[in-house]
Amino acid sequence: MKTKRLLSMGPPGAGKGTQAANIVEAYGVCHISTGDMFRSAIKNGTAMGKLAQSYMEKGELVPDSVTVGIVKERLALDDCKNQGFLLDGFPRNLDQAHALDTILAELNYNLDAVIDVSVENEILINRIIGRRICRNCGATYHIEFNKPKTEGVCDSCGGELYVRKDDTRETAENRLSVYSSQTQPLLDFYKGRGLLVSINGDQAVEKVFADIKNQLGE
Ligand code: AP5
Ligand code: MG
Ligand code: ZN
Repeated sequence: MKTKRLLSMGPPGAGKGTQAANIVEAYGVCHISTGDMFRSAIKNGTAMGKLAQSYMEKGELVPDSVTVGIVKERLALDDCKNQGFLLDGFPRNLDQAHALDTILAELNYNLDAVIDVSVENEILINRIIGRRICRNCGATYHIEFNKPKTEGVCDSCGGELYVRKDDTRETAENRLSVYSSQTQPLLDFYKGRGLLVSINGDQAVEKVFADIKNQLGE
């Protein structure tokens, strides 16, 4: 199997994280989620975490000067070189997309595909508000659409499930509007390069993944 270098670009709640777990399992790539990296920095109380938190709580983008740096550092590590990668939630605006071009050129990497999982806004809001995440292993659940076997407890590791701070209706609405003004224009940018893979995200998790696999091939 050829090493894959992928981006996933859907709106908040589309299922990027959920499908990332499947993609990592099937293709053995490194999962690089800028949102997860910021949440871990917040948990560890670092200066970057404090800065990121002030933006994330409002559903705004963290400044590019911070975000581009952490992606650049991460992509340069050996595991990304050997296993390929899935960037989840980066780039999110045109400046980040240009910065990514420069980083990839320096590392001599080409992208294989940009996965766009699309879902209507009203459905996205419900997915976001009902999401639960494992504090221990990061697995993602939904109180209605993807229930854990025991309420509040992770199926895989027994960890406690929690609600992300930015998963309120108000913040979710702002995240969706930031997505449509700043991130959605990138779809044309990658479509123009023949990299865009469009997936209907309003289907069962397994069906969404089957469609992704179909399009990406071996
Ligand atoms: P980030 O963590 O990336 O959040 P997001 O883009 O808002 O996306 P989500 O994680 O909310 O959704 P998802 O698509 O991963 O959906 P999931 O699989 O969990 O970013 C958070 C913040 O960090 C940003 O607002 C920003 O402040 C900052 N940030 C991050 N990257 C940045 C960058 N590049 N530049 C600047 N700032 C940045 O699924 C959602 C729910 O739906 C779950 O409950 C799941 O169980 C359920 N679900 C999933 N699939 C299905 C399905 N097919 N059917 C039914 N339910 C489903
Ligand atoms: Mg996510
Ligand atoms: Zn867990």
